[in-house]
Amino acid sequence: MPGLVVFGITGRMGQSLVRALRETEALSLCGAIASPGSSRLGRDAASDGAPTGVAITDDPYPALQGAAVAVDFSVPQCVAANARACAQSGVPLLVGTTGFDAASRAALESAATRIPVLIAPNTSVGVSVMAKLVSLAAQALGPAYDVEIFEAHHRTKRDAPSGTALALGETVARARGQALASVAVFDRHGAAAAPETGSIGFAVLRAGDIVGEHTVTFAGGGERIEITHRATDRITFARGALRAAEWLVGQPAGLYGMEDVVGN
Ligand SMILES: NC(=O)c1ccc[n+]([C@@H]2O[C@H](COP(=O)([O-])OP(=O)(O)OC[C@H]3O[C@@H](n4cnc5c(N)ncnc54)[C@H](OP(=O)(O)O)[C@@H]3O)[C@@H](O)[C@H]2O)c1
Repeated sequence: MPGLVVFGITGRMGQSLVRALRETEALSLCGAIASPGSSRLGRDAASDGAPTGVAITDDPYPALQGAAVAVDFSVPQCVAANARACAQSGVPLLVGTTGFDAASRAALESAATRIPVLIAPNTSVGVSVMAKLVSLAAQALGPAYDVEIFEAHHRTKRDAPSGTALALGETVARARGQALASVAVFDRHGAAAAPETGSIGFAVLRAGDIVGEHTVTFAGGGERIEITHRATDRITFARGALRAAEWLVGQPAGLYGMEDVVGN
């Protein structure tokens, strides 16, 4: 079975991937990476349930040897280093980690000249379908309709708005022939709160253990369209990530997105 390396194995998504791997024969875990300060170094990759037989390490290079593909669900600060390790090892990489900066993005683009790199702020197949519906609605309705993007996540999420909310904003802007950076509004506080025509507003909720919810609202005079996705279990992201990782094996070097996996 082709081997999979997971960066961020001790986290919520890392453990969801361990669960999802138990459902499939397409990939098997061959490397489990945590941070140098992790309390789980040397322990089995599975925190509960049947052991995987793979010990957690902080050194990606031996783990990547002979691997078919890697997935990164760790922290934004180590995305660039993980990409360099994969490029040097010739191992395709899916980046599920969100909230990384422009320098990390440049490192991913550089890695993509040597290996296939799939950047997926949301690996659920449902969100890929949602993005297509949003694109269709934005094209049909045009900039006269106000667009607001709402997202809700658990209280420990580190980035805001979510990578998925920003990607949905990019989808709306692209469909309307706009650049997101020039129409995005992240602050609705005080005197400047009224939306300008053509702007794309973002609203964020952080509370409890919410897995992930996104709503794109299109509002015109006398009507409102809302397109919503609610994730109720991280297993949906893990299953989508495994599907995308399997797809990535054997692709030529380059940058990819979930739309390449799910198809048009
Ligand atoms: N694409 C998607 O569909 C999707 C879905 C959900 C979440 N996400 C994103 O995926 C990322 C992880 O989310 P999560 O909820 O699983 O977070 P989490 O529970 O905080 O897990 C992140 C893990 O990364 C590990 N880590 C820290 N530094 C590391 C390093 N240098 N190398 C390898 N591992 C390292 C940490 O473990 P140790 O301290 O043990 O090292 C931590 O357990 C976030 O950016 C989140 O936004 C994406």
